[in-house]
Amino acid sequence: GCDHAALTLKDAVKAHLLELGHEVKDFGIYQAGEKCDYPEKAAEVARYLRDGNAERGILICGTGVGMSIAANKVKGIRAACCENAFSAQMAREHNDAHILCLGARVLGPAVALTMVDAFLNSSFAGGRHCNRVNLISEMECK
Ligand code: RB5
Repeated sequence: GCDHAALTLKDAVKAHLLELGHEVKDFGIYQAGEKCDYPEKAAEVARYLRDGNAERGILICGTGVGMSIAANKVKGIRAACCENAFSAQMAREHNDAHILCLGARVLGPAVALTMVDAFLNSSFAGGRHCNRVNLISEMECK
């Protein structure tokens, strides 16, 4: 999902994912000129994941920041705003993030795709990270 700041990058990410053979659900926006308030798109995608309909989410706005703030309001969802492939990898390995948030006004498309690959090809490392992620979940209940 994306807002109007990120349509071109969203379409590039989608094309990349399809080329790799992933099944993709595109939450839009779909065309230039369309406007979108990023919290609404973040909520749609985060709730879709929370309800078990997909394995991973990618949200793109101008900076990735607004999307991540909004998506993290959905209980049970961890969204990570990243600006490089290492952070995207760690977001999976250490934080078990469900959603990668990218900034179309921050990242070039080639860098963004390396981050998408890092995010999708990494798994939660478990171990000492389980307790830390559980502590985050507990915060949602207080
Ligand atoms: C839209 O202009 C912009 O505010 C949005 O894409 C995003 O960067 C917010 O975090």
